[in-house]
Amino acid sequence: MKKRLFALMMASMMTMGAMVGCGGGGSDAPAPTPAEDGQETEGDASVDMSNVEIGVCIYKFDDTFMTGVRNNMQAQADTLGAKIEMVDSVNRQATQNDQVDTFITKGMTALAVNPVDRTAAGPLVEKASAASLPIVFLNREPEPDVMQSYDKVWYVGARAEESGTMSGEIIADYWNANKETADKNGDGKLQYIMVTGEPGHQDATLRTEYSVKALQDAGIEVEEIGNDTAMWNKVQATELMNAFITSQGIETIEAVLCNNDDMALGVIESLKANGYNTGDPSKFVPVVGVDATAPALEAMANGSLLGTVLNDAENQGIATTNIAAMAAAGEEITEDNVGYEITDGKYVWIPYVKITAENYKDFQ
Ligand code: GAL
Ligand code: CA
Repeated sequence: MKKRLFALMMASMMTMGAMVGCGGGGSDAPAPTPAEDGQETEGDASVDMSNVEIGVCIYKFDDTFMTGVRNNMQAQADTLGAKIEMVDSVNRQATQNDQVDTFITKGMTALAVNPVDRTAAGPLVEKASAASLPIVFLNREPEPDVMQSYDKVWYVGARAEESGTMSGEIIADYWNANKETADKNGDGKLQYIMVTGEPGHQDATLRTEYSVKALQDAGIEVEEIGNDTAMWNKVQATELMNAFITSQGIETIEAVLCNNDDMALGVIESLKANGYNTGDPSKFVPVVGVDATAPALEAMANGSLLGTVLNDAENQGIATTNIAAMAAAGEEITEDNVGYEITDGKYVWIPYVKITAENYKDFQ
């Protein structure tokens, strides 16, 4: 009986997974018929959630992708009948440390933290450990030694390498399909600009590295003509792109690779202001992002954005909440009771999905 609520959740996640081509794990788990014995209702599981209170710190609320994760965490807590409280760490680690202290003092029974500085996760684990509370990190991966320093630490995220490879492949496919027009200066090399996320974030480092590697692995000779951070931010990316266009000349830019969609959309604003990416095929720069946010999918629909990669906010949010809730309820964390494969007893990796003109409509 205990597993039934989670088995049901898994069944619905498997359906979702089938729709998006990526499962949350548990694919061989039985999919019971709801109410097969006429007793199953939501929350009618033997795992008692009444004492579960999850304290959640998000590095900053004003982040498009993390807002999606947040909303999914809230929805999942509601589904489970678990209490959840979320606070905005306003991009300050010191503030986040205080927030964790406050959650502990208030008697929360689990913590879920999206660290401001992933290299500063150690002290948060010490606080959790001193209070014997489970702590689930998400989206910003702590160092391995921190992950190993306490038995009640977990991490939910996605393999950044995967998203880098997929975004590079999208540009490679465009280049190969449009050889004549894509190589604007006809030198046989792809001149690109890289717009990166926050320095030190694993997603910024690895997406950058693996997107270029994917181009090279596709046999394309590349030349980087610009590389700078826009801190995941749309407005900063527009300013950065304006500066690149002024210094390099727009006609020299053959592709722009962005570590996330907000920055890709910021780059597109700048291109549009310069008469590019508005429908004239002779004035087009392929731009790729990561996240598959709603505005990015809209930009794909209107042809201004070439492609993106789904960063699955829904499954990351659900997995984080399930682990925090089950751990708070004193349950062992297994694939069976959280609905996701657990790697090395501590990690849940949610797969990315490549989004191109062929499949973006399935995600809108
Ligand atoms: C990344 C995401 C970015 C930003 C960042 C915050 O995974 O692609 O858009 O939300 O996390 O840590
Ligand atoms: Ca060229």
